Amino acid sequence: MNGKTIVSGMRPTGSLHLGNYFGALENWVKLQHEYDCYFFVADWHALTTGYEQTQELKNNIDEVLIDWLSAGLDPEKCKIFIQSKVKEHAELNLLFSMITPLSWLYRCPTYKDQLKQIKDRDITTHGFLGYPCLMAADILLYKADFVPVGEDQLPHLELTREIARRFNYIYGEVFPEPQAKLTKAKVLPGLDGRKMSKSYGNTIALSDSPDTIRKKVSTMITDPSRIRKDDPGHPEVCSVYAFHKVFNENEVEDIEQMCRGGKIGCVQCKRKLADSMVEYMTPIYERRQVLKDKPEYIREIIETGCENAAKIASKTMEEVRTAMKVDW
Ligand code: TRP
Ligand code: SF4
Repeated sequence: MNGKTIVSGMRPTGSLHLGNYFGALENWVKLQHEYDCYFFVADWHALTTGYEQTQELKNNIDEVLIDWLSAGLDPEKCKIFIQSKVKEHAELNLLFSMITPLSWLYRCPTYKDQLKQIKDRDITTHGFLGYPCLMAADILLYKADFVPVGEDQLPHLELTREIARRFNYIYGEVFPEPQAKLTKAKVLPGLDGRKMSKSYGNTIALSDSPDTIRKKVSTMITDPSRIRKDDPGHPEVCSVYAFHKVFNENEVEDIEQMCRGGKIGCVQCKRKLADSMVEYMTPIYERRQVLKDKPEYIREIIETGCENAAKIASKTMEEVRTAMKVDW
């Protein structure tokens, strides 16, 4: 342990696929051994764009939590909780909203992008505009030193630092300025070679059984110019090869050589991949089999996580109220 604090959240979009896992969760599992970690389900953030579609939300939160625990987040090592269960997130968001100029929010690139992209819902709301303000509250409530996020979240982190500076300038030093912790994201394409995404139906889920994994791997798109197995291949256009880079690091060079030289057939290459994936994912699958019959156990873990997070959160809020002189 190095005494530094890490905070990160994930919106509950339902069960995770391998793209999500290698984009963030795999890294969280490592970080829990080195840092004081706070990992939470950002359910209020889900409402900023999905306030009309709340039927699935509860179930999605459960799915995300079971994914996290199956993947190896250990409640003895990190705090695992749900944003909306620690009301201080809302209080700090409110106070930050008093000092955050609208111009900062309007100029946030993610805000402008989403407004252009999301056409099937009306997201011209106060809550959606204030998304980065809530995110700043999530992070600063625990005085994070580092925030592991993908590049898409960097503008939010920049705003978080600006809000921290502005608060400190007006009321006195309370918040450290958190740094982004970018990880080299391991990129996995979908089964069909496009980006892995639920909406394309081309995912492998973290919850897939070994059998399902084998079946899905056998349907993956390979180099279309290889008709016979001794045709020279182009691994760079092949999803199977992209997966080998993640699941079979030690052998990728051999595989590349063999593929280019027409020395390995795609069927065999897929079988090799499926073996490595099944080996990697079996412990995750087995943990899930145990957890899925113990909803009470999961509930307890989360309650404890929420209580532990709330202890720190309420301490920060006392400092905030004192600094702002709203502590009567
Ligand atoms: N905005 C993040 C995302 O969509 C989720 C999130 C909410 C978050 N609050 C956070 C991430 C605080 C890191 C820290 O991925
Ligand atoms: Fe892809 Fe392997 Fe076939 Fe080459 S041999 S095209 S890397 S599946």
